[in-house]
Amino acid sequence: RILILDYGSQVTQLIARRVRDAGVFCEIHPGDVNDDFIASQREGLKGIILSGSHASAYAEESVKVPGAVFQAGVPVLGICYGMQSMASQLGGKVEWSDHREFGYAEVRAHGHTRLLDGLQDFSTPEGYGMLKVWMSHGDKVTALPPGFRLMASTPSCPIAGMADEERGFYAVQFHPEVTHTVQGEAMLARFVTEICGCTRDWNMPDYVEEAVNAIRDQVGSDEVILGLSGGVDSSVAAALIHKAIGDQLTCVFVDHGLLRLDEAKQVMSTFADHFGIKVIHVDATDAFMSKLTGVADPEAKRKIIGREFVEVFQTEAGKLTNARWLAQGTIYPDVIESAGAKTGKAVAIKSHHNVGGLPETLNLKLLEPLRELFKDEVRKLGVALGLPPAMVYRHPFPGPGLGVRILGEVKKEYADLLRRADAIFIDELRNTVDHNSGKSWYDLTSQAFTVFLPVKSVGVMGDGRTYDYVVALRAVQTSDFMTADWAELPYSLLKKVSSRIINEVRGINRVTYDVSSKPPATIEWE
Ligand code: XMP
Repeated sequence: RILILDYGSQVTQLIARRVRDAGVFCEIHPGDVNDDFIASQREGLKGIILSGSHASAYAEESVKVPGAVFQAGVPVLGICYGMQSMASQLGGKVEWSDHREFGYAEVRAHGHTRLLDGLQDFSTPEGYGMLKVWMSHGDKVTALPPGFRLMASTPSCPIAGMADEERGFYAVQFHPEVTHTVQGEAMLARFVTEICGCTRDWNMPDYVEEAVNAIRDQVGSDEVILGLSGGVDSSVAAALIHKAIGDQLTCVFVDHGLLRLDEAKQVMSTFADHFGIKVIHVDATDAFMSKLTGVADPEAKRKIIGREFVEVFQTEAGKLTNARWLAQGTIYPDVIESAGAKTGKAVAIKSHHNVGGLPETLNLKLLEPLRELFKDEVRKLGVALGLPPAMVYRHPFPGPGLGVRILGEVKKEYADLLRRADAIFIDELRNTVDHNSGKSWYDLTSQAFTVFLPVKSVGVMGDGRTYDYVVALRAVQTSDFMTADWAELPYSLLKKVSSRIINEVRGINRVTYDVSSKPPATIEWE
């Protein structure tokens, strides 16, 4: 196992991704842990990676690497800030600068270190091996600590890499975890396997077995409740827990009446019929709709939906008197984000808009079997467990559902129109293949949906005049949902969607396409 200490870089998660891609398990912890924490991690620990940061190794508020890291007897790799901390704490020198630059650089490898030897993108006429990297200039190491030798350099950063191979300490000023560093993945793989000696044994089938055993150990013969939403995380959690403990699991599926077309049916047919999981389907449409009557403010709507959800769930959960555990589909980025939010370390914190917090008053212990997994690992796990790929690779859907896609007051009539229009849009996205990539437009977009606008506009149909509602189509491409571009969907696709919606959904006579990026617009309209 590899331990990654996070000093607040936005790309720390990428380090973990690369390490896991190399088949090695790793965990991220905040960088300001103490020596005792490092000591508690010793079992099975094979190496430590120190991440980059936004801080300067010399800035007053900067965090020191716990001394125990360098006493742990395992190899250590410092990246950027991690390199500077390593240098200053082990007796080298770091020069501070308030001028920071990030960008492409060509680094020359020196000596023959186990980390870089044989890796190169091109060589100079003199025969030096060169690496194309993503560098963060600014603070830099100006004198090597005792025992270290030069491993890499650039003209503007004479010490861009250093190593003390006897102790297994390596450090680079550039970022091997980003794809712009061409050999970065190979470097990280080499560090964790050859230098730290980890075996490449992190793979899905083994993980399923391990996770199943862990769940059995944890819950024993107790009963477990899970709030199933039909989203990827809760679906995978349900399938995994069911594999482990079968009928000891009961899922509660709250239908707030703001789901997509036939979604409730699909959830029931997948989980109850196909997997044979006990699912309590609560159709709470009327309760939600009546609470939402007359409410137009988006945040007020979110709060009402969240509160009502908790209430309905709590009532159902309260009936399952034997349950001792509440299972949740918390995934690793949620864990890191909330840890970051607590310590204030992570710079980019995505706001959580999950529907309510589930009730603490239920007095149940928490079971979170996906806590160690990234989203794409959760998806692979879902496929390994036999969930339909179309469900596992679905776009995200907000907890308040169509409640935030019907602008202003929510009415059942609007939800019914929107559901049908949205189903047409999604259907056409799935069925239209882009010839360059061979992928469907559904797979080429990160999120796509239809928004209901409660305004009427004039149209003609046959000989008559219509006065009907408008919908907007929204499709975006994004890697993190914090910024997003509107998708350049082919006109032919938009044309087909528009004509199908107007012809097939009586009550809608106008379709628009949203060409706003985030920021300044958000992905959802409310
Ligand atoms: P925005 O609209 O803020 O959305 O650009 C970013 C991502 O978050 C989702 N989103 C929500 N998810 N409850 C959720 O569970 C919400 O209230 C909510 N609001 C936005 C949105 O769908 C997008 O993926």
